[in-house]
Amino acid sequence: MSLLITNIGELVTNDPAESGDLLGVRTDAAVVVSDGLVEWVGSAAEAPAADEVVDAEGRAVLPGFVDSHSHLVFAGDRALEFQARMAGESYAAGGIRTTVAATRAASDEQLTAGVARHVAEMRRQGTTTLEIKSGYGLSVDDEARSLKVARQFTDETTFLGAHVVPPEYADDPAGYVDLVTGPMLEAAAPHASWIDVFCERGAFDEDQARTILAAGAAVGLKGRLHANQLGEGPGVHLAAELGLAAVDHCTYLTDDDVHALRDAGTVATLLPGVEFSTKHPYPSGRRLIEAGVTVALASDCNPGSCYTSSLPFCIALAVREMGMTPAEAVWAATAGGAAALGRTDVGRLVPGARGDLLMLDAPTHVHLAYRPGVPLVVRTWSA
Ligand code: NIG
Ligand code: FE
Repeated sequence: MSLLITNIGELVTNDPAESGDLLGVRTDAAVVVSDGLVEWVGSAAEAPAADEVVDAEGRAVLPGFVDSHSHLVFAGDRALEFQARMAGESYAAGGIRTTVAATRAASDEQLTAGVARHVAEMRRQGTTTLEIKSGYGLSVDDEARSLKVARQFTDETTFLGAHVVPPEYADDPAGYVDLVTGPMLEAAAPHASWIDVFCERGAFDEDQARTILAAGAAVGLKGRLHANQLGEGPGVHLAAELGLAAVDHCTYLTDDDVHALRDAGTVATLLPGVEFSTKHPYPSGRRLIEAGVTVALASDCNPGSCYTSSLPFCIALAVREMGMTPAEAVWAATAGGAAALGRTDVGRLVPGARGDLLMLDAPTHVHLAYRPGVPLVVRTWSA
């Protein structure tokens, strides 16, 4: 079965060989997808025949968004916490424990239905690849079942037993690290590809993060980190030192952190929906890009620090608040997200890549930031 999308006003390929610009933009373009893979990219005038033809009528077509950071396995919400923050309260990661209690009390069916609802929401907004973390179970059984639920929706699942120390271990954080690196890891690992640690004051320190990431690596899990979200700290440096694919948040960075990321080639994943929802200052995407750091944009969709599933919203924030051009923001939400997941088969439209695409009801990618809040993604295709 082959699909031809033709009369594309602007095709974002993310292939620098196309036009020399960051997004590898082609105008008056066409693309053919066959058996789930991009087969051909070229000009509309030279488009080959296909089983199905879609006329884009001058609209923009982009690679599907790659959301490399989400926490979709949860129950309940924390709207009152958000309301209080907007009235001046500060964000406390301790709210995570509220969601842990609700998640533990939910059935597998309820958790699965919640993930399905949020994945559908993401898909409507153009996301075709996503990562999902555990981290609201924080017991052996609840972390394992969270990952089993997540695995029904994506292969990019991340074990985040080290989110916070749960209440029953409040007096014994070392015992909790033993649990995470022992029986919990054993139960979680068959359902996960990645391991993550929230390395932050009030969560896990550098030594604990090292221990947990090493235990994950020993059973084949790739490492990533939540770091420097609430203040400066050792997490970003640790991610660079360990050569991790990505370190996420990066809200508070020293120059030394920035240089370490650049030298290591570790992707800085920025999550501007978090700053929107916590009122922390937005990090500067410009500063990172100018320094030569690879930047990704992701949603961090979770009920506490950021309850948006929308990468178009994150793109608009990155352009308005983080000094990124529309092209840089779109690249960060597609090719950047792919880099953060160590993937080369998504985030770009070149022959051989997955046939994951989205169409905007707009002529160019710039409209994603220019028309914030407008549901511009009119169609997605996913392999
Ligand atoms: O990515 N930083 C830690 N974890 C989440 C917040 C989770 C919550 O508040 O429930 C985050 O922001
Ligand atoms: Fe997160």
